[in-house]
Amino acid sequence: MATIICAEHAGACYGVERALRMVREAAQSHEGSVQTLGPLIHNPQVVEELEHNHGVTVAQDADHVSGDTVVIRSHGVVPDVIQHLHDLDKDVVDATCPYVKKVHAAAERLVREGYQVLVVGEAGHPEVEGILGHAPSAVAVVNPDDLEHLSLSRKVGVVVQTTQSRTTLASLVSAILLKGSVDELKVVDTICEATAERQRAAAALAQKADVMIVIGGRNSANTTRLAEICATYCNNTHHVETADELAADWFENAEIIGITAGASTPASQIASVQTQIEQLCHD
Ligand code: F3S
Repeated sequence: MATIICAEHAGACYGVERALRMVREAAQSHEGSVQTLGPLIHNPQVVEELEHNHGVTVAQDADHVSGDTVVIRSHGVVPDVIQHLHDLDKDVVDATCPYVKKVHAAAERLVREGYQVLVVGEAGHPEVEGILGHAPSAVAVVNPDDLEHLSLSRKVGVVVQTTQSRTTLASLVSAILLKGSVDELKVVDTICEATAERQRAAAALAQKADVMIVIGGRNSANTTRLAEICATYCNNTHHVETADELAADWFENAEIIGITAGASTPASQIASVQTQIEQLCHD
């Protein structure tokens, strides 16, 4: 019988668990209809379950909101969006992850202190858009080439999208310094450990597993990244969203079966995949 091991850090992070709890509570306690602004998380099954069991639907943007209560997801939004929802007389439940709020506060503080603010992160990503909304003069940069045509002030402040790696941050910091025009550089390291922890734990497990199962939305960037990391160590790696995608022949002759899951995969999905693997190995 194979041994099934779940990675030491796997599945929904603190901010996602909190957002899920808040949206379910809002659906129970608020009168009228509840919507999330954009899909709550990159996990189609959870978004469907919220609609099916709790009547929570998705508004694509702040101009197309029909619900009485609107939940802001863990990525956060620009302040204007919250104001716009209040102007529309909506009840707003702000499920922005507290770690993302720390980035907002750090960016605002740097602006007040007179720094030119750079956000290390992917331009266009909702979290980065939200950060830029709190520091409208800030610019998003993600690789050293982005700095080439940017003229930097003498005082530069840096904050970081929570899911970025420290390697990316370090390469940007060194590129800023190498430009030679900055007298003062203040870096606020706002990286959240959840992503790196999941990646490290997945890599450690994949090195000893015969099969790796990575659970999470195919539209989830962090789950896809976990699958890529696992595949570098274990060539029998499979990315699945649900238990019914599992195939018995993946587990033939396997002694160690590893499981990991992205930061937007709730514990219930991990448990159902694990149960199904146990069954397939038994049959
Ligand atoms: Fe928050 Fe970190 Fe998750 S910033 S949403 S706990 S990945």
